Order: sequence, then C-alpha cells, then structure tokens
Amino acid sequence: MRMGRMAADIFSSEFEEHRQRFLEYAESFKDVPDAAPLRLKVEHTFKVFEHALRIIDSLGDSISSELGRASVLAALYHDCGRFPQFKEYRTFLDARSVNHAVLSFQTMRDRAFLKEEGTRIRALAQCAVLLHNRHKLSPFLDRDARFVTDVVRDADKLDILRIMVSYLTSALPERDAVLLHVKDEPESWSPHIAEDVLAGRISKYSDLRFVNDFRLLLGMWMSELRFAETRRALAGSGLMDIVLAQLPKAAELRPAVEKLEAMLEECRLAGGRG
Ligand SMILES: [Fe+2]
Repeated sequence: MRMGRMAADIFSSEFEEHRQRFLEYAESFKDVPDAAPLRLKVEHTFKVFEHALRIIDSLGDSISSELGRASVLAALYHDCGRFPQFKEYRTFLDARSVNHAVLSFQTMRDRAFLKEEGTRIRALAQCAVLLHNRHKLSPFLDRDARFVTDVVRDADKLDILRIMVSYLTSALPERDAVLLHVKDEPESWSPHIAEDVLAGRISKYSDLRFVNDFRLLLGMWMSELRFAETRRALAGSGLMDIVLAQLPKAAELRPAVEKLEAMLEECRLAGGRG
C-alpha cells in the first residue's frame, strides 16, 4: 500500500545533510551578477528532489533502499553544474556553452558531494546525473542505472513543465534564458517539430525555433514518462492542459494537437491505475 505524503516527509529527513550541502554550494554563487536565474535553479532542484521522493515512495518495497537513495541523491544534485555554467557563460543553453550534465557530474565528483555514500549508490547517482539530459538513453544501460536515471528524468520533466508554463504565460525577466532564446511568435510553429509529434519522435532542443515548438516538445515528453506516479502528477497538475490549449488553432497543426490530447488522456488513465 502506498504510504503517501507523510512517509515522504519522514523519508526526506534522511537527506537533510545533503540538502544543506546543496544549499551551501548554491549559496557560494550568490555574488554572481544578475543571479535571478540561479535562484530559480535552487527552487527547481528542490522540486525535482521532492518529485523523486514521491516516485520512490510510490514504489514502496518493490525497489531496494539503495536504488531509492541513489535516485533521490541524483535528483538533488542533477543540475549542480548549472551554477558554474551560468557564472561563466550567462546562459543555460548547452549548445552555446557546455553540456550542463557533464559539468554537474564533474562538480559532484570533484567536490565529493557523495563522499559518505557507498560505492554503488555513488556510482548510480553520478551516472544518472551524467545521463539526465541525454536525448536518448542506450538500450544497453545497466538496469539499475537506467532506473535511477529515469527517476531523475521523470521528476525533472514534471518540474520543467511547471517552470515552462509560468514563462509561457507571462513576461518574466528571466524568460529569454529559460525558454532557451526561441522566438515568440504566437501563430508560428516549425512543421518538422509537428512531424516529430506525429512520428512519435522527441525533438532536439537545438531544433526548436518558436515558443510553440517548445509546447509541442513538452507534449511529447508524455511519451517518455516511466512511472505511473509521474503521469498521475502530470495529469493532476493541469499544466499540460494549459500548454496544449495555448497551441495555435490552425488546421495544419490539428492532427499533432489531437495526438497530444489523446496522450494526456492516457496519462490520466494510466496514472489512475498506477
Ligand atoms: Fe538538467
């Protein structure tokens, strides 16, 4: 039986030292000029951490405590490389700077964030951090490494969706950095991105040109979610409904939008079963 929020709270106290460690690390970047985007990364980190806790909690005894711990720690440190990335390059766009997952991995390793953890937990968590932003994961990835990586990717997607919806619906000052500098033309989208949706492909960030391309990609993320808990949270949040409702009403785009609407409906059903 699922233990729910209460258990997740108790469970999260196990990670207090790591939460403090992450906060101290983030605090060390406070003097970076115009650091508002970095403050958002702190908020993002803790949301992803909480989502990961909930995913692990929902799986109960079906997974080992080692796997659960590695997953939650990976979620907590998954974006630590965003801080040095922004400090040096003033952007979160990996294509114009560095791969932030590699930088997160190196930062975790060099600063020994997981020094007290067992070798297996450390290896699994670091591997998941390194792979969390990969466009595709290798089918040969070790089963446990795949699991931990999928927890981070599911949890990350859920919170990126929250962030994107807030930026897609308002003109906040960090908007340009968060939306990866795509063009804001309300009626424009790229036909190749709509084709990706119909073909069931996940578009690459580097192929996005318009804000609506971003919306289509966010929709396609539904096909990648592994855990019923994530699908339930996504459907329950109402965020995807907002994203899809903001897409242009043009007839040429209709088939792609209908496909995404059907996927959201499936998320609702699958999440309910999970
Ligand atoms: Fe990331």
